[in-house]
Amino acid sequence: MSKLKIIVGTTRPSRSADRVVPWAEAAAAAHGAFEVEVLDLRDWPLPFFAEHFGTVGDINDPTYSQPLVKAWNRAIQDADAYLVVTGEYNHSVPGILKNAIDTVWLSHAFRNKPVAAIGYSAGIGGGVRALEHLAQIMVETEAVPLRNTVVMPFINDAFDGSGQPTSPATNAALQVLLDDLAWWSTALERARAAGELVPGRIRLRDLTLKAKTAGSPAA
Ligand SMILES: Cc1cc2nc3c(=O)[nH]c(=O)nc-3n(C[C@H](O)[C@H](O)[C@H](O)COP(=O)(O)O)c2cc1C
Repeated sequence: MSKLKIIVGTTRPSRSADRVVPWAEAAAAAHGAFEVEVLDLRDWPLPFFAEHFGTVGDINDPTYSQPLVKAWNRAIQDADAYLVVTGEYNHSVPGILKNAIDTVWLSHAFRNKPVAAIGYSAGIGGGVRALEHLAQIMVETEAVPLRNTVVMPFINDAFDGSGQPTSPATNAALQVLLDDLAWWSTALERARAAGELVPGRIRLRDLTLKAKTAGSPAA
């Protein structure tokens, strides 16, 4: 079974996430492909990102500025796949979610793992702009953002009294998302087990250094 971590991207009191997450978590657990854990950013009061090389210590097992930062990097590392649940704030992801992603620093914990996402908003946009930004952000972490998302407009009317979506298309979209996530998770677990390339940023630095040395008069 793939270890799936559901990241809850908003934290404010009265958040709509509290209606979206139980429904998504139940569906993910019922899917059969996943061992599911919720990472609620309310339970992870991460500092505003301020790491630097002085806080790292051992680059292969960074200390960071606080134990919570290290624990967060480990919690993200200890997963095969992610499902991000996010509202849309000013046409993007909430700052607290961006901060949590930025805090995964130097550990490459998201690398070569699939990320699916559910977006929602109070208006007709349904969080699509947050989802598009999230995909761009996740590319930089070297995660694999997936094409099929769940978009939930008019979130205040999106669930009935039993906690089920009022639109049948919403459950269908979640099923597609979970099927894709399971497929990608298995595919990438196999690929990682067969061996991973050194992160591109490091290979680029090393190759550039090599080229510079080869071209230097002292070489
Ligand atoms: C700071 C802030 C900015 C928002 N910006 C947008 C926006 O750009 N587009 C949109 O459709 N809804 C926007 N909304 C509405 C939210 O998407 C909606 O309130 C949603 O429920 C927020 O998620 P949460 O309740 O889990 O915090 C905004 C809400 C807040 C609090």
